Amino acid sequence: MKEYPAPEPLMQVLPESRSLGRAVAARMASILLDSPEGLPLYVALSGGSTPRLLHDVLATTFRERLPWDRIHLFWGDERFVPLEDERSNYRMAQETLISKVPIPQENVHPVPVHLATPEEAATAYEETIRRTVGDRGFDMVFLGMGSDGHTASLFPGVEALDEKTRLVHAVLAPEYAEPRPRVTFTLPLLQQAEHVLFLVSGADKSEALHSVQHGRGDLPASRVRARGTVEWFVDAAAFGERGPA
Ligand code: 6PG
Repeated sequence: MKEYPAPEPLMQVLPESRSLGRAVAARMASILLDSPEGLPLYVALSGGSTPRLLHDVLATTFRERLPWDRIHLFWGDERFVPLEDERSNYRMAQETLISKVPIPQENVHPVPVHLATPEEAATAYEETIRRTVGDRGFDMVFLGMGSDGHTASLFPGVEALDEKTRLVHAVLAPEYAEPRPRVTFTLPLLQQAEHVLFLVSGADKSEALHSVQHGRGDLPASRVRARGTVEWFVDAAAFGERGPA
């Protein structure tokens, strides 16, 4: 697996969470509208609650500005619960974005959590990704970060972090991250993406963000690479009051 050099994190600090959502939506539009006409655009959404900031802007201000008929949505990670479960990342995106924009239903590719086990779901999702996205990789992957430095469902110490070839992995999250059974993109899949956009909001993330920025290379979020750019969009609360670096 080709290793890409660690890019200097490109980081934008936004004054508060609403401006964070607007800045990321604008960046998404500039990337997708700059892509060659007519091609499908492969985008992976993040889970948790921060993406609501982005989805709200995409579903309103940017609703008419994006080529929804060309956009295909996947999930960078998913909790292994039914899609209608309130903890499902798919359900959050369905409620805050998908139900509000004119994206064709066949362009929405949830993790197959109806299968018997997270392992089966990971294998099936990988096959779907290889069949659709292929070697081209994702145009854009959105990621969040936990206060422990995890991203997607790549938590510190999980075996999936050391995966070198598979694209999607089943993971058992630590006890503090319910629900524990998860399905997640691996670092090799993230690394194939053209653009990775981190969205980080809230003071509870400031310690992990500071660690990522200043060399704690072992944190999962620090290990994410991309073919093109890894860009961080953070609000002032997450950036925190800092003395000289
Ligand atoms: C998940 C996410 C996870 C999330 C971070 C941040 O399924 O929970 O994919 O990686 O991005 O935990 O979560 P918040 O945005 O809720 O802080």
